[in-house]
Amino acid sequence: MMRHHTVFVFLLAAGFTASSCANGGEESRFKRDGKSLFYNFGGCSTCHRVNADKLVGPGLAGVSKIHSDAWLKKWLKFPEKTWEENDPETAEMRARLGEGKKSKPGMKLVREFSDEEIDALVDFMKTL
Ligand code: HEC
Repeated sequence: MMRHHTVFVFLLAAGFTASSCANGGEESRFKRDGKSLFYNFGGCSTCHRVNADKLVGPGLAGVSKIHSDAWLKKWLKFPEKTWEENDPETAEMRARLGEGKKSKPGMKLVREFSDEEIDALVDFMKTL
């Protein structure tokens, strides 16, 4: 009897460990998923809507047709640096949003994103 009980506890513990590992994997997969980054881990949706309506920042519907992939990647990696450099795409955005004279961008990211995360975010923006 005792023996069976021990085996049962062991299987329970093994199952539990396996499922916590699986959850860890899920979470990192979500962090590389553009939609999850946009709505959860990346904090974009606190400032942006996915339609044309302004929230804190402009609505992002069609944004991938306004900007090149290269610019979007640079903007998401270094908003302040991109703002200061003021290349033609940034200047167009600033003029369009009436922010030509501001010295700093309004976009403050929750953290720095990896290149992989940025690729996923750009892919997600192409669906908007
Ligand atoms: C604190 C608010 C805030 C957060 C968080 C934020 N943004 Fe922004 N974003 C802005 C503002 C404001 C602008 C307009 C330019 C400026 O002032 O910085 C902008 C501009 C943009 C633009 C250019 C839009 C255009 O019309 O040219 C893109 C693309 C963008 N954000 C994507 C994102 C993504 C993706 C995230 C999440 C990783 C994000 N933003 C997080 C506020 C934010």
